[in-house]
Amino acid sequence: MTKRKGLILAGGTGSRLYPITMGISKQLMPIYDKPMIYYPLSVLMLSDIQEIGIITTPQDQAQFQQLLGDGSQWGVNLTYLVQEKPEGLAQAYLVGEEFLDGQASAMVLGDNIFFGHGLPEMLDAANQVSVGGTVFGYHVSDPERYGVVGMDADGKVTEIIEKPTDPPSSYAVTGLYFLDETAPDRARGITPSDRGELEITSLLETYLTDGTLTVERMGRGYAWLDTGTHGSLLDAGNFVRTLQSRQGMQTGCPEEIAYQKGWIDGAGLEAQIEKYSKNAYGSYLKSLL
Ligand code: G1P
Repeated sequence: MTKRKGLILAGGTGSRLYPITMGISKQLMPIYDKPMIYYPLSVLMLSDIQEIGIITTPQDQAQFQQLLGDGSQWGVNLTYLVQEKPEGLAQAYLVGEEFLDGQASAMVLGDNIFFGHGLPEMLDAANQVSVGGTVFGYHVSDPERYGVVGMDADGKVTEIIEKPTDPPSSYAVTGLYFLDETAPDRARGITPSDRGELEITSLLETYLTDGTLTVERMGRGYAWLDTGTHGSLLDAGNFVRTLQSRQGMQTGCPEEIAYQKGWIDGAGLEAQIEKYSKNAYGSYLKSLL
């Protein structure tokens, strides 16, 4: 089986926090001690994905390139792609079609943060599925803000609705999508929603119709954090800080994952340590050697 490719959608969705004109790309703002995009990047790396397309707005691309480079410092290969306008999550599969080159993919939103015991195993299981799509359902207090799945008594998905006024369950679909190689073709077939976007929910519906959509529930032991408001951004930072200070372990640390997977060697890790010689992140990397 050829390895799945990865996509990170870091498009222009930060406008609810700061005006676009302020020039701050939301996904580059720090969540405690590292840029937001490190967290979704780590999720793809934990999924054993090394070919990754980073989708940004045209104006933000340079900032992302400056921060992440070609990815070789983490043993991954980054390709930069542009989404001209924020016209929906499903559009990422059209923007990324050439890059994906007929391969299955895992797409993660650049502002989604996942943490949980057993996450690597859950990702690995989704990675093994070669036909159809796997998404993750997470119990939230405000499902109407998300794509929501309705399930039957056996936990099988029966419907998926974008921002329902009357949610069929409390399970929101998180921003992490493992889809087979048919995703770009399917994306081409869907029509824009009332908000003028190619909805990921419409794309997932095509898999549901074919009977090939699986929803894995992320249980209570997981954190799926929101960064869409000033308050939730700060909460996410505090969460990471609390966890890391207590455990003495990092979450969302690309260097650690790369080193553990053998994608970089000791010398590669040392080169990264140099860059962070003045802070606790660097000391942590040193402790891994
Ligand atoms: C998007 C998707 C929605 C999903 C959510 C996850 O919502 O449309 O289905 O649940 O991401 O973060 P949006 O951020 O566009 O409101």
